[in-house]
Amino acid sequence: MASYKLLLLPGDGIGPEVMGEVGKLVSWLDRQGVASFETETDLVGGASYDATGQSITDAAMGRAMAADAVLFGAVGGPKWDSVPYEARPEAGLLRLRKDLGLFANLRPAICYPALADASSLKREIIEGLDIVIVRELTGGVYFGEPKEIVTLENGERRGVDTQVYTTHEIDRIARVAFELARKRRNKVTSSEKRNVMKCGVLWNQTVTALHKAEFQDVVLEHQLADALGMQLVRWPKQFDVIVTDNLFGDMLSDVAAMLTGSLGMLPSASLGAEDPKTGQRKALYEPVHGSAPDIAGKGLANPIAMFGSFAMTLRYSFGLLEAADLVERAISNVLEQGLRTKDIASAGQNAVGTSEMGDAILREVQALAN
Ligand code: NAD
Ligand code: IPM
Ligand code: MN
Repeated sequence: MASYKLLLLPGDGIGPEVMGEVGKLVSWLDRQGVASFETETDLVGGASYDATGQSITDAAMGRAMAADAVLFGAVGGPKWDSVPYEARPEAGLLRLRKDLGLFANLRPAICYPALADASSLKREIIEGLDIVIVRELTGGVYFGEPKEIVTLENGERRGVDTQVYTTHEIDRIARVAFELARKRRNKVTSSEKRNVMKCGVLWNQTVTALHKAEFQDVVLEHQLADALGMQLVRWPKQFDVIVTDNLFGDMLSDVAAMLTGSLGMLPSASLGAEDPKTGQRKALYEPVHGSAPDIAGKGLANPIAMFGSFAMTLRYSFGLLEAADLVERAISNVLEQGLRTKDIASAGQNAVGTSEMGDAILREVQALAN
């Protein structure tokens, strides 16, 4: 039987709470002989900082490099507001993305039928929604240099971040979007701000050129990023695949999450380039949400984004398509059965906690598997 090396990085806040639920599913799949998982667990974020003074250690990075896939919870929280910038919890996540070369972040936003009323938007706007945001993840203003705060001669301080993209970086993320669209509804919307940014001009030109050269069978449209934000809440079903840079992708995917009912619903996959020899990609799977300090430690977090991220792990890294379907169907079924965590419960509806939701999903996977 195939064996897969899986590194679990629960992190901070609700990260360990939602990861714990998925851990039960991993153990069960392993015991069932669906696949054999060699799991290791390590520290990241504030938890790592508290133990080691670094938001991720070289040893943990080494484990991430050696793993077939990394499953990541969440990092950050007010406890670490005053730690040095380089050691802040989020830096651990950024190092993982950069050093593993995870340039393609796929953030699918699906509105489960049972949740059509949980969104802040009207049912007809989000019912049947199925879009993917393809976010560039290792470039742009997140990593551009210089990145600094300097003191000027007059005593004022100046903060500098640098937005920078090369044609190669734009080309490879656009390629991911076009190839994905071919397997879906064949439409890509590329988004930037070419009206104010040089990177936006280059982004637009590069995507257009790639489309002309290799992907003319896919419908391509361009929308300015501010207008796209508006369109996402006006009529999101016009989209299939959206491709955009690191910062716009971060913001737009939080908006997309709310279309589905809650940030607690949105999974994501961060993928590297295919190794030409093995065909494998480095990969990290993470919910779109953060450590949710306001509800951490209360057993209230919705674990569905974490389960969804694990389903993506099974599909993209391990090729266990049936097992991935099973997990996704189990999520859909428990929602149909009326189970809700607080974030997706309508007024007057009873809400369950993190572990009740996790147990219900596991039971449903078990029932579907038999
Ligand atoms: P957040 O995503 O943690 O929370 C935003 C809101 O959504 C909160 O009200 C929270 O309770 C709710 N929420 C999020 N996930 C939920 C879930 N699974 N179930 C129910 N409700 C959920 O964003 P924030 O409050 O802006 O950030 C908190 C910390 O998390 C910051 O330090 C930030 O840097 C970090 N963060 C980390 C990641 C990550 O690790 N990938 C992502 C985003 C933010
Ligand atoms: C996300 C998060 C991260 C980001 C933070 C925690 C660095 O918001 O994954 O969406 O900005 O990329
Ligand atoms: Mn974000």
